[in-house]
Amino acid sequence: MGGSRLFEQPRHRHEVDRFLAFAQPPGPLAVEIGFDFGHRLFDHAQRWPGTRWLGLEVRKRQVEALAARAPSNLLPWRADARTVFAQLMPAGRLSRVDILFPTPWWHDGKRARRLLLTADFVADLARSLAPGGCVHVATDVGPYFEHVEGLFARWQPCDPPPVGEARSRRERVCARDGLPVWQGTWRRAEGG
Ligand SMILES: C[S@@+](CC[C@H](N)C(=O)[O-])C[C@H]1O[C@@H](n2cnc3c(N)ncnc32)[C@H](O)[C@@H]1O
Repeated sequence: MGGSRLFEQPRHRHEVDRFLAFAQPPGPLAVEIGFDFGHRLFDHAQRWPGTRWLGLEVRKRQVEALAARAPSNLLPWRADARTVFAQLMPAGRLSRVDILFPTPWWHDGKRARRLLLTADFVADLARSLAPGGCVHVATDVGPYFEHVEGLFARWQPCDPPPVGEARSRRERVCARDGLPVWQGTWRRAEGG
């Protein structure tokens, strides 16, 4: 689900076309990366029907389950967010990107290649945001949040985007177990 030529392969053409058609109409386009069960994403799509919501998730079963009940303004897509942002995401298009509890692969050297939040990925986020668009990140791993703060050090902190009532699976676990959660929201700095 990665690789620089992935989306050029004929077997992925229909997925690419579907995504491009979904992203094309005017109006706000929001993305949630790693939505897992999609509780929050589904709630947002229902709550704000005037926004188009793209969900990127690599777990097949979760994507299929959400797709089966998704309203027309929600596109769950089984794809690696890094590849989508690097190769396909239109520039200046996104009103918000939510990344809730990204997997902290960084702690395992062998899996570092799977790390989502890197300098390259943050550059792709910057390119894809519309003016005023923001990136929101939450994690319960303190050192990972320090890593994220470093990546966004030259961005501008801003208010978190509005959320509905539904919580993601990990948000629920953290609330239940009283775990600390670090959150940050940033938009591109002026001229950045
Ligand atoms: C720790 S879970 C958090 C799930 C959910 N956001 C939550 O708050 O409960 C991280 C999720 O990100 C997904 N994921 C990891 N790397 C990804 C990538 N490169 N692109 C899309 N999804 C990814 C995983 O499959 C997993 O569902």
